[in-house]
Amino acid sequence: MGKQIKIFDTTLRDGEQSPGCSMNLQEKVQMAKQLENLKVDVIEAGFAIASKEDFISVKEIAKQIKDCTVASLARALPKDIDAAWDAVKYAKKPRIHTFIATSDIHMKHKLRMKPKKVIENAVKMVKYAKGYCEDIEFSAEDATRSNLEFLTKIYEEVIEAGATVINIPDTVGYTTPDEFFNFISYIKKNVSNIHKAEISVHCHNDLGMAVANTIAAAKAGATQIECTINGIGERAGNAALEEIVMALNTRKDFFNYNCDIDTTEIMRSSKLLSAITGVQVQPNKAIVGVNAFAHESGIHQHGVLQESSTYEIMKPETIGLSQNKMVLGKHSGRHAFEDRLKELGYNLSKDELSNAFKQFKDLTDKKKVVYNRDIEALITNKVMEIPEIYKLDRFVINSGNTITAIASVKLINNNKEIEDASNGDGPVDAAFKAIDKIVGLEYDLEDYSLNSVTEGKDAQGEAIVKIIKDGKMYTGRGLSTDIVESSIKAYLSAINKMLHEIVLEDEKRIS
Ligand code: KIV
Ligand code: ZN
Repeated sequence: MGKQIKIFDTTLRDGEQSPGCSMNLQEKVQMAKQLENLKVDVIEAGFAIASKEDFISVKEIAKQIKDCTVASLARALPKDIDAAWDAVKYAKKPRIHTFIATSDIHMKHKLRMKPKKVIENAVKMVKYAKGYCEDIEFSAEDATRSNLEFLTKIYEEVIEAGATVINIPDTVGYTTPDEFFNFISYIKKNVSNIHKAEISVHCHNDLGMAVANTIAAAKAGATQIECTINGIGERAGNAALEEIVMALNTRKDFFNYNCDIDTTEIMRSSKLLSAITGVQVQPNKAIVGVNAFAHESGIHQHGVLQESSTYEIMKPETIGLSQNKMVLGKHSGRHAFEDRLKELGYNLSKDELSNAFKQFKDLTDKKKVVYNRDIEALITNKVMEIPEIYKLDRFVINSGNTITAIASVKLINNNKEIEDASNGDGPVDAAFKAIDKIVGLEYDLEDYSLNSVTEGKDAQGEAIVKIIKDGKMYTGRGLSTDIVESSIKAYLSAINKMLHEIVLEDEKRIS
């Protein structure tokens, strides 16, 4: 039996801080539930003091998650710790995660505090948090650029004050595997009371070494690993959960470590996150990129067909990629569809199933064969459903390479049909402008992208649209075999999210 490694997922905190990855309450709860299916040990649900929305989402996740520890981040300040506790106290297993910077650069320029004062604050705040909660994690921000003797002292004192986990972050992604191995070994050897706390590491990917550094730290004695789905996070991101877990899993012969992650949930977690944030992983991304299990060259294809282990070190099924090549089509019935959904790991309610089956049937009218990826796209699209304040009724586009594109769009709002038209720089731009006229609010289009879900002329096009209003970003996703329609649906979905939030804010103000 190997050493047990705990997986601390910070997708909803550090990950959510990365550009373009913000999520609303419903999306965060959805993601947290998927992390629970994935069986992570700890979910860092957010930074409760950061905003009202952060506080509410940490609290809601704390209420809904039963199997994982739920943590909130807090600076070493009483008001942060109060907010963190007020939000996580509903959890079955709550944790307060407090931090203070310890490098000379941060203490001098950011905190403007002397090292002695930093230790005093850290100790005081760990004791303060301990008054609320048994499970306290302490992080020394920018640890890898801190003085090792000073770090040893602060860790010793916070453990004495009650910290149950001490986290050693490589905040700016500066360290290297060998250096970090020695760093962790030093702390393990020199912090006299280290046996009373768990050693955690948290690596950023600025030099592309976050996963390697994390694994080196585990070899030196770290037993908690902080990471994010798809490696999202500040700047170049955090260590990617799927890469660490699959490295430990695939090379168990070498590492001999265990973790409780259900690897068959990896792909679903990655796709859900991409669907929610609209941020796709690069095609050649290890484990979850679309090419990670694709074999292009004839020699490789031949080898894999003879014996998959020739070029595959992991089985696609291990990460939840279905091997089932059977396609569904026009003549597939409800049972076949339901069976496929089960195989893909989706357990829908009766209503959800009826709705999904209707969408599947609509799709088979437009597309000869429906692949698993099409079905997954339909379901993840549903996951993000929010009230359709504006619903597309129909659109007509007149476009060509020698004429100005003109779009006429009819939407339904409150059972009323509203139609408007606009010209634009191409059909999508014209349609968006017509919608803007109908909605009549100020917001900016931040990003627009289009991907094909599967191959072929009749493939579904998936559009992702990001709009910004008052500094907040709203991501919409639309799916159709017609790319103008998927773009319009994505734009409306982002607008509906924005309007839904405005309605909720108004309701809160009135009550
Ligand atoms: O990168 C970092 O140092 C952090 C800490 C707050 C843990 O995210
Ligand atoms: Zn971080």
